[in-house]
Amino acid sequence: MPDQATLNHAAQILAAVSTDERADTALRFYFESHRYLQPIAKREISHTVFVYFRWLSWLDSKASPQKRLEQAVELHERFTADPKSIKAETLAVRAVPAWLWTELDLPAEAKADYLRQLQRDPALWLRARPGRSAALAKSLFSCEPSDRAPDALRFTGTQDLFKTEQFRTGEFEIQDLASQLVGVAAAPIPGENWWDACAGEGGKTLHLADLMKNKGVVWATDRNARRIDTLKRRAARAKLFNYRTDFWDGGRMLPTKQKFDGILLDAPCSGVGTWQRNPHARWTTTPEDVRELAATQLTLLNNVVGSLKPGGRLVYAVCTLTRSETTAIADAFGTAHPELEPLALFGAGPRATLWPHELNANGMFLVAWTRKK
Ligand SMILES: C[S@@+](CC[C@H](N)C(=O)[O-])C[C@H]1O[C@@H](n2cnc3c(N)ncnc32)[C@H](O)[C@@H]1O
Repeated sequence: MPDQATLNHAAQILAAVSTDERADTALRFYFESHRYLQPIAKREISHTVFVYFRWLSWLDSKASPQKRLEQAVELHERFTADPKSIKAETLAVRAVPAWLWTELDLPAEAKADYLRQLQRDPALWLRARPGRSAALAKSLFSCEPSDRAPDALRFTGTQDLFKTEQFRTGEFEIQDLASQLVGVAAAPIPGENWWDACAGEGGKTLHLADLMKNKGVVWATDRNARRIDTLKRRAARAKLFNYRTDFWDGGRMLPTKQKFDGILLDAPCSGVGTWQRNPHARWTTTPEDVRELAATQLTLLNNVVGSLKPGGRLVYAVCTLTRSETTAIADAFGTAHPELEPLALFGAGPRATLWPHELNANGMFLVAWTRKK
């Protein structure tokens, strides 16, 4: 059980969380104004806040915040010691909002595993520079490789990774395994030109640029200039120079007239695939959000597709699992574009749903096409 100080900090953070203020944002602001807190204390406070939102519907709403936090931690400890101590049927009605079941094409036999995964503490994944994961694992300790992505390592240690020499010198990025699989699926070739159309803070831009061995170019665009600034800082740390940035608001006015060998659309989405890591979002995301985002995703795909060279590859990725934002988008867009043909991913079909319980990582959906020559 966390000590009283941790519970008090967590209770103050809960007071700042609302539908408009995400739990992770509230945590960041709190830590910025409480700089004296040590990394271990911060980790404990964050964990307590996330545990609270993971077990929210079990808690006594009339109890004090501290009491509710204690209840959540008790439940979490019981579940962690014996995940089957809480029935899957109970998790299905309490761990996620009811609307999710109208949007999830999850095989019935996988439901219990999916729900139990959502209630666990999430794994922490690193991406080593290409070909350097064994050396990194040796120098960082507490790392386990993945058989799904060659540069992925699951970190099980307790040290503050941001303070390590390896991080400072750009030997790794913190990047979820599902996100790394987007780069693996895109498989850019050194010398190509790619457009990462919703580049954000550049997690996938850096991966693409790295896989291209600093050759060719990745155009990284976003409508959020602050995120692009972060991308530039991360690229400098990794000593990657084969990228350029531009503003793109997602509209018909494109940042360039160039045609690309590859386009990655890592679209804005409801983030259902991140609900293990970010449990607060389970209680703020609505079916209306899903509908609106699906419309945006289709618009973005239609706006980028004209920039693909004949033979070029278009990869659509979303860290969500709702039908409306995944297979329905793939169906609607694929049907409207006979100039494209589906492209195999991971040596299998042209669509891949990466489930959190199968990967021990975020959920993600991917689909790819190539423009007929
Ligand atoms: C899923 S995030 C991208 C994450 C990023 N690719 C990464 O790997 O770190 C989606 C991005 O799309 C951007 N975005 C949201 N709506 C957009 C729109 N209508 N047009 C263009 N970009 C948009 C957001 O600013 C956000 O950075």
